[in-house]
Amino acid sequence: MALVVFNQKGGVGKSTITCNLAAISASQGLRTLVIDLDPQGNSSSYLLGASASEGQTGVGDFFDFCLSYSFKPLKATDFVIPTPFANLDLMAAHSELNELQTKLESRQKIYKLREALEQLSESYDRIYIDTPPALNFYTRSALIGASGCLIPFDCDEFSRKALYTLLDNVAEIKADHNPDLEVKGIVVNQFQPRANLPQRIVGELVAEGLPVLQPYLPSSVRIRESHEQSLPMVFLEPKHRLTLALIDLHAALFPVPKKAKKKA
Ligand SMILES: Nc1ncnc2c1ncn2[C@@H]1O[C@H](COP(=O)(O)OP(=O)(O)OP(=O)(O)O)[C@@H](O)[C@H]1O
Ligand SMILES: [Mg+2]
Repeated sequence: MALVVFNQKGGVGKSTITCNLAAISASQGLRTLVIDLDPQGNSSSYLLGASASEGQTGVGDFFDFCLSYSFKPLKATDFVIPTPFANLDLMAAHSELNELQTKLESRQKIYKLREALEQLSESYDRIYIDTPPALNFYTRSALIGASGCLIPFDCDEFSRKALYTLLDNVAEIKADHNPDLEVKGIVVNQFQPRANLPQRIVGELVAEGLPVLQPYLPSSVRIRESHEQSLPMVFLEPKHRLTLALIDLHAALFPVPKKAKKKA
């Protein structure tokens, strides 16, 4: 299944959540892929660290291929590279995505990522897609191709206002292009339980019936070290409270089916 992590607002934790959930899937032995659709490439540098290099293939090459007149059939796995972590691969982003966007739009390549995801889902158990902070060609492509959408939320009043528009946008894409798209839920990030405002804002979202996921992810300075060392939390500090919250969130998203009761 492909899960897109999306919020038009910047800095809410999209890349952090994408990479950490993906690392947890991989650490549980699932074949996992991260697709980085953000020209900033934060997920790519988070996962690759020192093993990142200029010439590596990635999403830009994939979209370039889609723009070429080649009659070669698409092989989406050609654009994937391994990360230093077992079971975790990456389709990396580069800044060229910025330049490609207008061409991709004018040549109507919005369904190409969906085609790639259909192929990739044969090779991977979990696909996580990180998106830029905008509703643009790349985020639309991801929402059109994915089966689930996760919305990180940073407990801010502006974010709350933007949330309704965001949910409308997702609903429109679902109605027009992708009936399989399911809002898996809102991920409350950087939650400070002792502060009144975040508690109130999140409480109101829940009261309105919005799909707020549990548990809420606590704020922790360890995440900066995790980024700096290019080590997702599950590898940096498996017992940290943020890691444990991420593991619980992962379990809430992908519940293990209950085994059929054995007959006596
Ligand atoms: N749970 C957390 N605790 C503390 N800091 C966090 C947490 N989650 C994210 N951050 C910090 O918030 C900042 C933004 O995180 P991140 O880059 O994941 O957001 P983003 O939504 O991907 O941003 P952008 O929209 O620019 O792509 C980073 O500096 C990160 O270290
Ligand atoms: Mg990001």
